[in-house]
Amino acid sequence: MKEDWIEGRIVGLRHWSDNLYSLKIDAPLSSFTAGQYIKVALDIGEERIGRPYSLVNAPDERPLEIYFNEVPEGPLTPRLSDLHTDDRLWISAKAGGVFTMDNVVSRRHLWMLATGTALGVYLSILKTPEPWERFERIILVQGARHSGELAYQDTIANLSDGYGERFTFISTLTREQQADTSLQGRITALLEAGTLEQAANAEISAADSHLMLCGNSAMIKEVRALLEAKGLHRHKRTQPGHYTTEQYH
Ligand SMILES: Cc1cc2nc3c(=O)[nH]c(=O)nc-3n(C[C@H](O)[C@H](O)[C@H](O)COP(=O)(O)OP(=O)(O)OC[C@H]3O[C@@H](n4cnc5c(N)ncnc54)[C@H](O)[C@@H]3O)c2cc1C
Ligand SMILES: NC(=O)c1ccc[n+]([C@@H]2O[C@H](COP(=O)([O-])OP(=O)(O)OC[C@H]3O[C@@H](n4cnc5c(N)ncnc54)[C@H](OP(=O)(O)O)[C@@H]3O)[C@@H](O)[C@H]2O)c1
Repeated sequence: MKEDWIEGRIVGLRHWSDNLYSLKIDAPLSSFTAGQYIKVALDIGEERIGRPYSLVNAPDERPLEIYFNEVPEGPLTPRLSDLHTDDRLWISAKAGGVFTMDNVVSRRHLWMLATGTALGVYLSILKTPEPWERFERIILVQGARHSGELAYQDTIANLSDGYGERFTFISTLTREQQADTSLQGRITALLEAGTLEQAANAEISAADSHLMLCGNSAMIKEVRALLEAKGLHRHKRTQPGHYTTEQYH
């Protein structure tokens, strides 16, 4: 189906580290559900090149915000990272995607596992009341290479201030040691060793947990295998399960 595009204007930008960026976009997007993505596009040569990006802002927040890393060989991100305030771009007229609370089963603990920029989608969801109404505790885990890639610390601190012991944020670093603030190693290795559950003081089980997995496809595949071995299954509308996924790359 042909995409319907609307024009957006850059009203804010942030360069977090050498290859990590956020863009704030003013555009008349229709309503969306936290966890959904928009397509963002630029006209490059004769072509309009668009890619999906999760919204970081909550549905009642404006401007729209996306968070991305530059893929040096990619067609879009090196150009997106070069934009300035007041520059124009295209966004899809509607948001899409099913990585939302509509596909999450209420249990005691909601685990949100992210690699890299997948953090953003969870911030949108966590800024809405629904997950807090449906879960006793929420554990947000971000896997990144370096501490400089742990963005949005102010938003995370606000969530901690607002929800106290109901909210746990765990960062895990793979290419730097910061023993005071972060675990060391990949999410998968820490999950397999039981270190994540220990750090969160919560057990991952079919009875108590729903998990959301987002980001790197290899991480998702490996975590799925670990969960299936524990008796947790992918959620389907027709058959309620224990985890939902969204793959970025
Ligand atoms: C539903 C959905 C939501 C997404 N939301 C986000 C988001 O919020 N933030 C975000 O940064 N990206 C997100 N992505 C990825 C994004 O759409 C682009 O693929 C990415 O920004 C690279 O764009 P590109 O045109 O420069 O390169 P592409 O042509 O898209 O990709 C070039 C190569 O880089 C790989 N690649 C794509 N994304 C990454 C990445 N993040 N890190 C490393 N390698 C990558 C691809 O697999 C491909 O091999 C999302 C993807 C999907 C499917
Ligand atoms: N120029 C730079 O300095 C720089 C810096 C960062 C990223 N990049 C580029 O940006 C792109 C995205 O990098 P990114 O770091 O945001 O995303 P990423 O490659 O998906 O890595 C994010 C985190 O996920 C981990 N990870 C990767 N595969 C995993 C798996 N199978 N299971 C569990 N965890 C896994 C990584 O650990 P590992 O470290 O063990 O892979 C890292 O901690 C890449 O193309 C990269 O080359 C460039």
